[in-house]
Amino acid sequence: VLNKMIVNATSPMVVVANRLPFIVQKNAETGQFERKQCAGGLVTAVAPVVVETNGLWVGWSGQHLEDGEHDIPEANPNDRSPTAGLKSRQVIPVRLPQKQFDDYYNGCCNATFWPLFHSMPDRALFQSDKWEAYRQVNEHFAKLTVEAVVKLAETNPNSVPLVWLHDYHLMMAANSIRDRCDRLGLQIKMAFFLHIPFPSWDIMRLFPWDDELLQGILGCDSVGFHVEDYCLNFIDCCQRRLGCRVDREQMLVEHNGRTVSVHPLPISIPYDRFVSLAEKAPQVVKNNEQEQLLLGVDRLDYTKGLVHRIRAFETLLQKHPEHIEHVTFLQVAVPSRTDVKEYQELKEDLDQLIGRINGRFSTPNWSPIRYIYGCVSQEQLAAFYRDSSVAVVTPLRDGMNLVAKEFVACQVGEPGVLMLSPFAGAGTSMHEALLVNPYETDEFAEVMHRALTMPKDERELRMQQLRHREREHDVNFWLQSFLKSVDCLADNNLTPGRLLPL
Ligand code: ADP
Ligand code: G6P
Repeated sequence: VLNKMIVNATSPMVVVANRLPFIVQKNAETGQFERKQCAGGLVTAVAPVVVETNGLWVGWSGQHLEDGEHDIPEANPNDRSPTAGLKSRQVIPVRLPQKQFDDYYNGCCNATFWPLFHSMPDRALFQSDKWEAYRQVNEHFAKLTVEAVVKLAETNPNSVPLVWLHDYHLMMAANSIRDRCDRLGLQIKMAFFLHIPFPSWDIMRLFPWDDELLQGILGCDSVGFHVEDYCLNFIDCCQRRLGCRVDREQMLVEHNGRTVSVHPLPISIPYDRFVSLAEKAPQVVKNNEQEQLLLGVDRLDYTKGLVHRIRAFETLLQKHPEHIEHVTFLQVAVPSRTDVKEYQELKEDLDQLIGRINGRFSTPNWSPIRYIYGCVSQEQLAAFYRDSSVAVVTPLRDGMNLVAKEFVACQVGEPGVLMLSPFAGAGTSMHEALLVNPYETDEFAEVMHRALTMPKDERELRMQQLRHREREHDVNFWLQSFLKSVDCLADNNLTPGRLLPL
């Protein structure tokens, strides 16, 4: 294990998330079920937490009821990923009829909450049957969660289990979990963490069932978001929509005779693990010694601003032709939510755009854009991070963005430059990055030029400070801060992480 977490939890933990940290797939040759890794911020951050706390994880395995019964396979012995330590006994798979799951996941989570919470309401669909499916599926998660709590209570009779709900898929499960536990006489603590932004009241009120949703979240004792702005948006919505008494200083919301605490908990990465990966990773093959790489790593998602980024790169080549044959844009995009129309359209747009730019600028020995549409291993990712001159992390909106942090951790050689969008949660704390508005194409291209030509002294200084902050505030720090916020930290000598002011 490269990244040992210091877990000081006083309570056994049940993590409840839409996904397990892997999907289960049938191997066509052997007929055996196997684990396959998933990409995404939630899995990256939470998987090591469950492994190290020896907790339970309730989530979807990628299989539906129609696929038949099967056991959760153990990790392959060669698996070096952070989830390899998760034993099958720690996993409680959610299996539902495909139609119901699809209405909940694609119909509501991906088509309603994802765009709405990223403040892109024009892309959001509001359909009552999908919302109904969402509520039913949350009810099913609640039932399985309580079964997990019962299991934990049997093995740990003297402690109060901690139920930790994750993300926008599970905003309506808390009240049912609470009622069911009450009926069984089981005491629990319950927390919710949102991995995406929480939008302002102006956006939230577009959702026709916003009151029910807010009450759903308030079923927890403690609610966490990445940054203070999202906390304040949530508190504002509770006050304006539900008429709750709130305290913005202390970040408290009163609801149904209970007080719910709200916490800014900036998520992070297993920093040391990425350093070790980068120290061992093989060299990235370049056209020549001098070639500079600009790097993008994202799920293929419209919130990531991929089209804006590639257009800015085109402008760079046009305005600064000295970069032709010397600079290559390497974009790694992992397929995501491929059943949703918006994602299929984005894929086509990007294919076309990249094809056009490569056609326009390529020379016999060089093409401006290297594009990988697929998942790459963490070892390969670490090599890309280490050997790139510039990471271009420019989402249109993003809860936090872990790629920015992974890049910084992997800068163990010649220091590179981080370009970062102020519309990512990471933009509120990573001050030494070059901040760039992804909508402003000409300026974007100029900042790319500045990053590519930045003197070594300046790169070194910026990167040193970025690395120092991320090393101190890694995923372990996030977990400790969370445990403290729910009063489950055994050793209380830690100051929880508030982001440094701008
Ligand atoms: P999101 O949660 O929206 O996907 P984040 O930047 O917070 O965005 O997290 C993305 C995670 O997925 C990171 O840990 C990153 O390393 C991983 N990832 C993204 N793209 C790929 C890829 N093409 N191959 C492998 N992992 C990827
Ligand atoms: C983001 C969300 C996660 C989600 C991930 C991948 O990180 O916050 O909840 O798991 O994207 O998306 P997917 O729909 O494939 O789970």
